[in-house]
Amino acid sequence: MRTRLAGIAACCLAIASCTRPLPDADVIIVGAGIAGLSAALEAGASGGRVLVIDANSVGGGHAVKAGGFALVGTPLQEKKGYRDSPEIAERDLLAWGEDADPAWVRRYVRASRPEVHDWLTAFGVRWGFILDTPEHSVPRFHFASGSALNVVVPLMRAAYAQPNLDFRWNTEAVALLRTGSAVTGVRVRDLRSGMTSELRAPAVIIATGGWQSDLDFVRRNWRSDVPAPARLYAGAGYFATGSGIQLGTEAGAATTRMDHQVTFTTGLPDPRDPTGSRALLSQNPSAIWVNSSGRRFISETAPSKDADDTVLKLKPATHWLIFDADGLKTLRVRDGVWLGNPAGIEPLKALGLIRQAGSIAALAKAVGLPAPALQATVDRWNAAVRAGNDADFGRFTPGKPDATARELGKAPFYAMQLFPMTRKSMGGLAIDADTRVVDAGGRPIPGLYAAGEVTGVAGINGSYGGEGTFLGPSVYLGRLAGRAVTSRSGLSRDPQPVAAPAKISISNDPTYRARALTVAPEALPALLDAHRPGYWHFEVAHRTVQERGLDCTACHTPDWPTRAAASAGQKQVQLNSCGTCH
Ligand SMILES: Cc1cc2nc3c(=O)[nH]c(=O)nc-3n(C[C@H](O)[C@H](O)[C@H](O)COP(=O)(O)OP(=O)(O)OC[C@H]3O[C@@H](n4cnc5c(N)ncnc54)[C@H](O)[C@@H]3O)c2cc1C
Ligand code: HEC
Ligand code: HEC
Repeated sequence: MRTRLAGIAACCLAIASCTRPLPDADVIIVGAGIAGLSAALEAGASGGRVLVIDANSVGGGHAVKAGGFALVGTPLQEKKGYRDSPEIAERDLLAWGEDADPAWVRRYVRASRPEVHDWLTAFGVRWGFILDTPEHSVPRFHFASGSALNVVVPLMRAAYAQPNLDFRWNTEAVALLRTGSAVTGVRVRDLRSGMTSELRAPAVIIATGGWQSDLDFVRRNWRSDVPAPARLYAGAGYFATGSGIQLGTEAGAATTRMDHQVTFTTGLPDPRDPTGSRALLSQNPSAIWVNSSGRRFISETAPSKDADDTVLKLKPATHWLIFDADGLKTLRVRDGVWLGNPAGIEPLKALGLIRQAGSIAALAKAVGLPAPALQATVDRWNAAVRAGNDADFGRFTPGKPDATARELGKAPFYAMQLFPMTRKSMGGLAIDADTRVVDAGGRPIPGLYAAGEVTGVAGINGSYGGEGTFLGPSVYLGRLAGRAVTSRSGLSRDPQPVAAPAKISISNDPTYRARALTVAPEALPALLDAHRPGYWHFEVAHRTVQERGLDCTACHTPDWPTRAAASAGQKQVQLNSCGTCH
């Protein structure tokens, strides 16, 4: 009898394993941006088998291009004498965002120190400086030395060092797998081979970021109080297509706050973008801003949300920066790695994106602004600077001087026409307090979680994005999702320490260098011209290598020759190279 029962049990198991394949992991995380990496480390620390997939061939997502974190009550603030508290931060965020989600704001401002600042610091992140920005009544926009690259690289290093964390690159999630109403995996497409396959896990965390590079998606969800601009450029990353929103909604998820989108108005068309649809963020504190009538229309130092709303309401929604030879020194154009090439902004001048002329009248003619009006605007501005009083827009008054406001008098004069550009999504998949994705009735979809910008960072920003209020909340939400998954699956909760991998230095020994070359430098042009699917980052990176005349062995070593990094050790060496370009 016993044997017979055992036999039936074994038979059932066999049938079960035929119809329901063994899971590939305890959790699958879609997206290796800062939210996905935080979720992976959190879930991995409790011993779970974590599989992270990403459509790109490298991790980090937008954080690679981003800046700082809004953090509350940190040691650096204390050192600088900035007295901050969760109560002050909560008031600031609710006031700036106007309709932010109060519960999530309250949670974030209390969690940012222990859950974001202290956690990142334990991975070796060092906080360098804090910027004072208008939405925060106390300076709290924290930067690691340099950009947020210096925050995600330590996370990637830690993740690669964990044996229970696995990464699949060039792998795009195309659908969620379901068993009944529960999500039980992901259908993926290998971008390099074109093959689709199914990956199974009892939990899936969507961390695919926003949709700000799909301009149709942006327009479909445009806010109702201001018309969408005729010329609108993309200012987010290559993979920010909102695919995670689609994955979620196809599985029954509700969306929320979809018309909450950050649109900057200081975008300069990117001449390097083959689609002609992308822009670069451009700023110049020495410039005056004029509309299509050649007149100033706002204080150039107005808080960003006022400035952006004002420009979006202009007809047409565009403006020009006007500055002189001295003002050229304070021009900052950001977002393109190629701007760091030796030629810098010269191509922008050569292509007429920065116009130059010997007089204001000639400049007006060159850019198509009314010359008498522009001359009158510049004369009036210069008189205001001399008087120390901007009676028109109050940028400076005798009691509130502005050192960046200077007379425009030194030829050549410059003009740049700027346009609205997309940036960040503040709505997305609806989640509950546990980061579980919910349907229209507020019921959690079993097995499905979401974190980061794909959730509109949980409505923390309301209608107006603040400085640092995406990266910090993305880390927090990622950790919450990783934790929610592991606590539900009953995995152990003893966080495992992560060993810091050794940095591998590059020797000048020619034999050492030669061993790094499995693909000869001469072979590179053909590889780049092939435009192979799944090689986007390889191509953009190595075009930069060519333009900067870099030697292959500046990044590749015998420990990571000129081929895709495969082992954990090779991935660690690969991470040494990111800062060369980012
Ligand atoms: C230029 C720029 C500067 C910014 N500066 C700041 C700042 O200073 N402070 C701040 O707080 N915020 C800033 N932000 C916003 C912030 O960077 C992002 O909100 C944040 O990094 C989002 O992280 P994430 O992990 O949620 O998503 P992402 O960083 O977008 O990562 C998503 C990942 O998912 C992958 N992916 C997408 N779809 C799929 C799919 N279908 N299958 C597989 N993989 C997929 C992508 O390749 C990507 O790696 C900035 C944004 C930009 C564009
Ligand atoms: C040789 C130059 C170079 C190196 C090295 C490099 N990148 Fe890049 N990377 C680029 C360029 C160029 C882009 C295109 C976007 C741009 O110009 O800003 C890019 C884009 C990205 C993006 C996507 C951002 C977007 O716009 O969608 C990510 C993520 C990224 N890189 C991560 C990394 C990581 C991680 C490393 C290190 C392992 C790395 N990169 C190393 C040049 C480089
Ligand atoms: C500034 C750093 C840097 C330099 C210099 C550099 N590479 Fe790379 N290389 C990278 C990075 C980063 C990757 C990973 C890119 C990715 O996966 O998107 C990479 C990946 C590669 C790959 C693997 C592509 C794949 O996934 O199959 C090849 C081949 C390669 N490099 C060849 C070269 C050659 C040849 C040279 C010299 C002409 C060179 N590299 C110079 C940073 C560099």
